[in-house]
Amino acid sequence: MDAAGIEPAIALRMASVRYGAATAVDSVSLAVRPGEFVVLLGPSGAGKSTVFRCLSGLVRPESGEARVLGQRVDRLGARALREVRRSIGLVFQQHNLIGRLRAIDNVLTGCLAEAPLWRVLARRFARKDRQLALACLDRVGLLEKAWQRADSLSGGQQQRVAIARVLAQRGRVLLADEPVASLDPESARQVLELLASVARQEGMAVLCSLHQVGLAREFADRLIGLRQGRVVFDLPAGDFREADEATLYLRPSADEPTHPLSVRFAPVCDQLSPT
Ligand SMILES: Nc1ncnc2c1ncn2[C@@H]1O[C@H](COP(=O)(O)OP(=O)(O)OP(=O)(O)O)[C@@H](O)[C@H]1O
Ligand SMILES: [Mg+2]
Repeated sequence: MDAAGIEPAIALRMASVRYGAATAVDSVSLAVRPGEFVVLLGPSGAGKSTVFRCLSGLVRPESGEARVLGQRVDRLGARALREVRRSIGLVFQQHNLIGRLRAIDNVLTGCLAEAPLWRVLARRFARKDRQLALACLDRVGLLEKAWQRADSLSGGQQQRVAIARVLAQRGRVLLADEPVASLDPESARQVLELLASVARQEGMAVLCSLHQVGLAREFADRLIGLRQGRVVFDLPAGDFREADEATLYLRPSADEPTHPLSVRFAPVCDQLSPT
């Protein structure tokens, strides 16, 4: 619960993940409220994908907590984890869709979270599911592409179909790990605009990693910087300064400590940090 009495939908609390001897995520705390669009920034290897793996229960932190919608995903058994995952929409850099299926069929795989894939493959789905899938495609501006094979759509359109599938899933949390990494600038903007509006209009908690600082500042409510597995800032997008970018991306000089010393948290974000 944060200071405003709102339960974050996504939260890590002092979470650490090691792969062998290497620490990929080091005592990370972060929180995303329903309706918030938060961007995770950080150089390659900073631990962004590991944060997503923790939150989707693919990796268990060796210490600390990972919560989604109030549930300790780091502690759940397989069945309970599957249940929570139904509320978590995932969008990654690529390979989000089944290429040989039409856009609508891909979205239907979201509607039919409980139903086996064969029902989609056999096109055995209820009219209400089909209507929901079409409404979701309309929401992402791709109604006219509903009947086209996913692999015939552009990269940006495919990412928007992936977001439509998350909407059809009626998830309350969206985790997007570099969703615009392979897109041209205009398609990237469309996808980010959509993620921001999904947060604001559908009230989803959206956590998205990006390498483009400019786009992050333009679209996110809040920016969290990760460097060498640690959070080095957690700020409203409007408070982000060039110095913060330097903290994140400049190479440490030989006499600098391994971890940058300056850590910036805006007061509002302190309130948001899970306690
Ligand atoms: N399965 C793994 N086994 C061993 N080390 C791993 C594994 N996955 C990630 N790592 C290491 O953990 C650190 C964090 O990796 P992670 O993939 O989370 O970074 P990232 O911020 O997502 O990077 P990128 O921007 O390149 O996607 C890196 O040093 C990486 O080499
Ligand atoms: Mg990554």
